[in-house]
Amino acid sequence: MPNPLFIVLEGIDGSGTTTQLGLLERHLQGRGRPVHPTREPSGGPVGRLLREILLGGHRLPDGAPADGLAMALLFAADRRDHLSREIEPALAAGSDVVSDRYLLSSLAYQAQEAERDWVATLARDLRAPDLTLLLDLPVAVAAERRRAAGRALERYDADDVQARVAARYRELVAGDPRATVIDARGGIEDVARAVAVAVDRLL
Ligand code: TYD
Repeated sequence: MPNPLFIVLEGIDGSGTTTQLGLLERHLQGRGRPVHPTREPSGGPVGRLLREILLGGHRLPDGAPADGLAMALLFAADRRDHLSREIEPALAAGSDVVSDRYLLSSLAYQAQEAERDWVATLARDLRAPDLTLLLDLPVAVAAERRRAAGRALERYDADDVQARVAARYRELVAGDPRATVIDARGGIEDVARAVAVAVDRLL
């Protein structure tokens, strides 16, 4: 078996990363590769706490949402925990790892409420993915998909925040040879095909 790959799907909320993760898992399995699917916030203790906070839990005594710098530290802590608990062992065991979100999420989202350089410093020395796929979709289309799916409102859902996150994502992947932008406006199968083409280049 060739070297196991670490592949990450990124995009604004409603861009389809979760759906595409499942299809990418099937695609790689179809190529005869063992796959470990995962996501961030992770299923570990910090990740579970983060999901509660994202849905509006653990507010400050005055009802205000959690502090943005504290959020950045929690996402960074969850990522280290996720790497040592799940990602590194799976790669070491010979599985490809496909993750719904990873480092680029912090660089795009947390940079909206904390200084960019500081957020980047928190991520120093992290394992880099072999490939990051950015599912690119207009903010209004993603918002409509979230609404149609009946998803609960989350911390970063406001349109202006999503627009800034989308712009930052595009800046972050521009010129990165290990990142590919996927047009996510098409149907699920079209997007899955574009993802598969990008991934097959690495096999
Ligand atoms: P999402 O991945 O959409 O999960 P779900 O489908 O369960 O709602 O939600 C995770 C949210 O967390 C999303 O708004 C992006 C945000 N996030 C960050 O702000 N920084 C990060 O580092 C990560 C991993 C996620």
